[in-house]
Amino acid sequence: MQTTFVVLGGTGDLTGRLLLPGLAELFTADARARDGDVALLAVSQQDWSDEEYRDWARARLAEHAGHVAEDVRDALVGRLAHQQGDVTAATDLRKALDRAAGRPVVYLALPNTVFLGTLQALTEVDLPEGTTIGVEKPFGRDQADARELNAVLHRLVPEERVFRTDHFLAMQTVLNLLGLRFANRLFEPVWNAGHIERVEIVFDETLGLEGRAGYYDTAGALRDMLQNHLLQQLALIAMEPPQAIDGASLSARKADVLRAVRSPADMARDTVRGRYTAGTVDGRALPDYTSEEGVDPARETETYAEYTVTIDNWRWSGVPFRLRTGKALGTDRQEIAIWFKPVPHLAFGSRGQAEPDVLRMRFDPDHISLEINLNGADDPFELERRSLDIDLPPTPLSAYGLLLAEMLGGERTLSISDVEAEESWRIVEPILAAWSAGEVPLLDYPAGSAGPAAG
Ligand code: BG6
Repeated sequence: MQTTFVVLGGTGDLTGRLLLPGLAELFTADARARDGDVALLAVSQQDWSDEEYRDWARARLAEHAGHVAEDVRDALVGRLAHQQGDVTAATDLRKALDRAAGRPVVYLALPNTVFLGTLQALTEVDLPEGTTIGVEKPFGRDQADARELNAVLHRLVPEERVFRTDHFLAMQTVLNLLGLRFANRLFEPVWNAGHIERVEIVFDETLGLEGRAGYYDTAGALRDMLQNHLLQQLALIAMEPPQAIDGASLSARKADVLRAVRSPADMARDTVRGRYTAGTVDGRALPDYTSEEGVDPARETETYAEYTVTIDNWRWSGVPFRLRTGKALGTDRQEIAIWFKPVPHLAFGSRGQAEPDVLRMRFDPDHISLEINLNGADDPFELERRSLDIDLPPTPLSAYGLLLAEMLGGERTLSISDVEAEESWRIVEPILAAWSAGEVPLLDYPAGSAGPAAG
């Protein structure tokens, strides 16, 4: 079926860096999309003709989709068009939708401050049957915002036709939580407080601000990463087995976990916030965050956030889930680590020290390892630490490519639901409030270090 991807914010950084490359990968993997099923109409303020837009897109694809064959990139460029317009004006949106052939997928690749105005304008447009709406993250700024956005979305299209983007859900390592947990007999019986000591979900980045102050300085690490990407991973790790791997079952099970997340009892103990100062990362000198262009130091935006979560349910009672993320750190440590409890009795006496078994699921390169204790090679009664390792193969579609394939195909599996979005804000809102009230100190950490000392 002919589908037109109507990208609001079609000349923005996200479109050039992630959406167009994702679509180019999709054109490689799916001949029907390439041969005419899928087109893209970009809407932006720019006074550009289709040709001018194609020139811009060609350059972005050369820069960010060099891995895609040139003839496929050319085929995509040939399917692009541009419409000048204000995304909060119903007349302009109507004009754009009139130009969109077949079923539209309207995607808000916009700053979240204009989501509401755009969705309200869409209510004045007669959307064709089968319209899908995609919304970038962060989905609002707090729970009240998320509620309001959800209410307007539900006036436009049914919930199953809303994609609230979280590209981590389409990352191979995160997707493998499903395969690993629910396609093997081995893990599920020990996947609970009886056998698991603690869980870490870490996304440390060496990257600094990368010129994104306009967005990042008003978001911070908690809103940018923890409220969505890290809580979604927590939900997939902690959820009950779904009845099926489909959007409805997954969202219902994830929502149950989010509902069971208890607000931190002691903010200063359970949360850490930090901000980087000048330093060197991978031989690159980074300035103090507060002297980066576009940053307002008075906002006290955190570039590091940590939250030790407790889940109030039978399966996870007493197991800490430590969520941690930060920019400009010394290493790209990006992993989920499941630490198992020690064996009840170690029969090896003084000849062997057993460390806890650890299951690690790493990002980029995507890799799963299970660190266990085995008999030693030299002395068979001495224990040795060994690791079972699996390199996950590169996938044909990047995370955005996979999300686009879902959206264009009309199948919603990898999305955040209305309830999940609101629950995630319910979880982080008290932290945001405590942080802005100064209940938790904003700790400095030098760029290139391991993070704030208290972490
Ligand atoms: C984005 C955040 O959603 O995810 C960025 O806004 C972060 O701050 C990025 O760097 C991490 O994802 P990826 O795909 O770039 O590893």
